[in-house]
Amino acid sequence: MSDNNKTILVTGGAGYIGSHAVLSLKKAGYQVTILDNLVYGHRDIVEDVLKVELIEGDTNDRALLNNVFATHDFSAVMHFSAYAYVGESVTDPAKYYRNNVTGTLTLLEAMLAASVKNFVFSSTCATYGIPEKIPLTEDHPQHPINPYGMTKLMVEKILSDFDAAYGLKSVIFRYFNAAGADPDGAIGEDHDPETHLIPLVLQTALGHREFISIYGTDYPTPDGTCIRDYIHVNDLASAHILGLEYLLKGGETEIFNLGNGSGFSVKDVIETAEKVVGKEVAKKIGDRRPGDPPVLVGSSEKARKILGWNPEYPDLYDIISHAWQWHQQRHKVD
Ligand SMILES: NC(=O)c1ccc[n+]([C@@H]2O[C@H](COP(=O)([O-])OP(=O)(O)OC[C@H]3O[C@@H](n4cnc5c(N)ncnc54)[C@H](O)[C@@H]3O)[C@@H](O)[C@H]2O)c1
Repeated sequence: MSDNNKTILVTGGAGYIGSHAVLSLKKAGYQVTILDNLVYGHRDIVEDVLKVELIEGDTNDRALLNNVFATHDFSAVMHFSAYAYVGESVTDPAKYYRNNVTGTLTLLEAMLAASVKNFVFSSTCATYGIPEKIPLTEDHPQHPINPYGMTKLMVEKILSDFDAAYGLKSVIFRYFNAAGADPDGAIGEDHDPETHLIPLVLQTALGHREFISIYGTDYPTPDGTCIRDYIHVNDLASAHILGLEYLLKGGETEIFNLGNGSGFSVKDVIETAEKVVGKEVAKKIGDRRPGDPPVLVGSSEKARKILGWNPEYPDLYDIISHAWQWHQQRHKVD
């Protein structure tokens, strides 16, 4: 590997956050190869917009990985691929442990065999479980309350052990709620099924859903609805470039929260979305969902201080406007 090798493998690069990171990597002069099994990823986005090499394959396929590493000279791997439906992880944990833990372990072993030792990992605030104090800082105890969060915590532990034993360096990012879309409008959030609040509100505004459900209005928050931390996907992407550069310069393994630092309630999000789309959306009040903490807001001071990260789009209106632009063109009513 040469000193200024800018060739990066991105797993899950055909998905939501990964595709935004690929666009930022390209803008920063990196050469990107995507590995994605396309279970949830979008081939058209890779071929028509990202225009980088796409290897259609699975992180659990060791023979394929050996071949990928043998035929490329990567300086680092950004690992976005995982399954991320919390509810499904409760009903089918085997699927999650196999994909998120075994798949990552297989990838890490293939990396080590090829002497690739820089790794950027998508972890989650779901590793914290029920918050004991807000804002959540990286040293907050981690007691995940669902298998999804547990799979991510297990990988965090694996990465700590792999650094100690094999010198594999990683930047672990614990995201809060990724939201928004690239302001240029060519890529955005397109999950199927969709479970995230902002796209669900916008799909309701587009007439693709009858109403938006509000789960619980009696939480101990100012307006009674849950408060969450929404971070613009392009700000996540810029943190990934900084994290990658930190590793390529010889940085030690580190863990960073990536959030907005300020929380917005479900009602805030719906009201702001109504302003963005210029009309009211139908709502239905439902019961609380089990396991939903009233407030989840993270401190990202560490990423600001160590990586020099400075989110460009902290404003909820901007986040929703960019998402709306994307949704209008991606999900036109036929
Ligand atoms: N979206 C969020 O708010 C959020 C929050 C915290 C953490 N995360 C994490 O960020 C990462 C990206 O999330 P996203 O919202 O972009 O999800 P996504 O589903 O849009 O993207 C994941 C991509 O990985 C691919 N994939 C899944 N398993 C694979 C495998 N075994 N081999 C190859 N490709 C595989 C999918 O086809 C998909 O393209 C995930 O690891 C997720 O757990 C997301």
